[in-house]
Amino acid sequence: MKEPARHTVTAALPYANGPLHIGHIAGAYLPADIYVRNLRQRGKEVLFVCGSDEHGAAITMKAMKEGTTPRAIVDKYHALMGQAFQDFGIRFDIYHRTSSELHKRTSQDFFLKLHEQGAFAQQEEQQYYDVDAKQFLADRYIMGTCPTCGNTDAYGDQCEKCGSALSPKDLIDPRSTLSGAKPVLRATTHWYLPMERSQKWMEEWINTGMLDGLPHHDPKEWKASVLGQCNSWLKDGLRPRAMTRDLDWGVPVPLPGAGGKALYVWLDAPIGYISATKQWAMDNTAEWEKWWKSDDSRLVHFIGKDNIVFHCIIFPILLKLHGGYVLPQNVPANEFLNLEGRKISTSRNWAVWLHEYIERWPHRQDELRYALATILPEQKDSEFTWKDFQDKNNNELVSIIGNFVQRVMVLCHKFYGGKAPEAGASTPDDLALWGAVHGSAEEMTRAVDAFRFRDALQTAMNVARAGNKYLSDHEPWKLEKTDPDRTRAILGNSLNVAAVLSAVLEPFLPFTAERLRRMLRIDATPWESALRADRIQPGHVLGQAEHLFKPITDAEIQPEIDRLHANAPVETQPPTAPTSNPQPSKPVITFDDFTKLDLRVGTITAAERVPKADKLLKLTVDLGEAQPRTVVSGIAQHYAPEQLLGQQVVLVANLEPRKMRGVESQGMVLMAEDANGKLVFVQPKDVMVAGADVR
Ligand code: MF3
Ligand code: ZN
Repeated sequence: MKEPARHTVTAALPYANGPLHIGHIAGAYLPADIYVRNLRQRGKEVLFVCGSDEHGAAITMKAMKEGTTPRAIVDKYHALMGQAFQDFGIRFDIYHRTSSELHKRTSQDFFLKLHEQGAFAQQEEQQYYDVDAKQFLADRYIMGTCPTCGNTDAYGDQCEKCGSALSPKDLIDPRSTLSGAKPVLRATTHWYLPMERSQKWMEEWINTGMLDGLPHHDPKEWKASVLGQCNSWLKDGLRPRAMTRDLDWGVPVPLPGAGGKALYVWLDAPIGYISATKQWAMDNTAEWEKWWKSDDSRLVHFIGKDNIVFHCIIFPILLKLHGGYVLPQNVPANEFLNLEGRKISTSRNWAVWLHEYIERWPHRQDELRYALATILPEQKDSEFTWKDFQDKNNNELVSIIGNFVQRVMVLCHKFYGGKAPEAGASTPDDLALWGAVHGSAEEMTRAVDAFRFRDALQTAMNVARAGNKYLSDHEPWKLEKTDPDRTRAILGNSLNVAAVLSAVLEPFLPFTAERLRRMLRIDATPWESALRADRIQPGHVLGQAEHLFKPITDAEIQPEIDRLHANAPVETQPPTAPTSNPQPSKPVITFDDFTKLDLRVGTITAAERVPKADKLLKLTVDLGEAQPRTVVSGIAQHYAPEQLLGQQVVLVANLEPRKMRGVESQGMVLMAEDANGKLVFVQPKDVMVAGADVR
């Protein structure tokens, strides 16, 4: 796998059925924007595409609810979302839309090519139909009880509680979301994608990164959670999936006799990345095909975890069957962001909306970008609180970045009339400073390349930290009286660290980086030259010193918390439990205490989700006893039940039984948290007989 010639970066097309909130931004758009901005700084050729997803039940149901047309809905939200992205500095090369004529043609051509190649199986079958609404019920038009977890509000395509993929016929007690009526079965014809035909190459591609006998990507670079979800689908066996629907809002199926049928939204939407590229190429008299068809193009999809199967399995199958297209080299899906202890919810109005934030906090986009970048749900769900937003602003933006830049600027104005001083000969301290600065910058690019954006931000902040330490160690404000030569060197170095800071912060805080450049009177420049220790030459005239950040008071924050509660209806949903509790170290125990523990090796022989508990799995563990043990374990967010069969574990076998969610747990499985916050099993290296003693 050689260095790619260019990067084609996509961010999930958001449904145009509501405004954007911080969960969207933390899930896909902010990490994508950070990635793209840093690649561009480093001189890479990048195309960053996105657009509105304007088809599907998400749109038509919203139109119905508001008593208007789908067209009116998508026009309204396409404009609102485009503006929010613009306002927050998420800089796509194009923000396109799937209701455009170009997209319709592109997706119809794509479908026809597959059809001509015999990629679909046309099939008549019985589907649920709402007699009152005169409509077939697929996907979100139908609800019922989830066969896996018992959630009574599962949709026809997915249970949002347990994440199972469903089809309408899997639902227990199905009901129409249009009328609430019990649906009847009626015959209809659809075009199915026989995904099982792709099972073999897909397994190989996902798990080894080999494609058609050639290395394509390194699966070790993919997130474990993404591989885990893909493998859970593959383990179940890929099945045929309908690529058409009986709907009049969507891209019409371009075949004779297919009146009233539209392409499945998850067929047309990802093709939206391609039509967006085409539109961009037309607008810029550029070429579109190399971004999608050259095997030296690196395709990366930024998405949230609910989109994994569509981007890692279904769309790649479609691309490969069509032929000529590259497949994604990575799909760095994020987990979800919670808000003030609860799941973000549009319907419950539990969200921080971008278009409202910008009104209440004008010119404070970077403060939100920063707070979100420090808590990106990269490995597990994370949480935004207004208090944390305030703390990050006051303790990090103001105290670390603002303080450093302010001190340097003010001293340069005071001592040198606003001109950069002579840097002078380097001392070991200066070399150490530059070692730290350059080390951080290098570390930052490594973290960005590995999609570790939280770490990348910390390394960028380390540049400012190094600058602050350098100032505090040398106290130029005092030293000036006794050693003006050395003071000039110290401030000359500090100014150049501020210049580096404007570069390393740019991907995260683009507005601040620009203001900092204006203060320093320097231009954005490619990475290598931005890191130079002598970029700001003696005599260079500086701009005025201004504060980059302002402290945020409790009086400004409290209203945000209040309005969140005031606008949300009375909460019925239980708060989310904290996902990890760093344990304080515990008091010493005696050897006798230790020998009281009965630790034994067991094998998981069955695993299922515990209804209405997103964190719990009910495990059956064989210890070689007459009866296997039932153990309730809080690992549902780390493992799918089907991943666990045959897993050997260490069990505390003499723990007092305890009821959890109505299930009696007869022991406890030992787990350890890895560096990424994922729980992994404490397990013997070799396979043990069930019941083996652990001492
Ligand atoms: N609209 C979908 C969602 O919000 C994402 C579509 S991504 C695409 O979940 F690939 F289909 F475009
Ligand atoms: Zn479920």
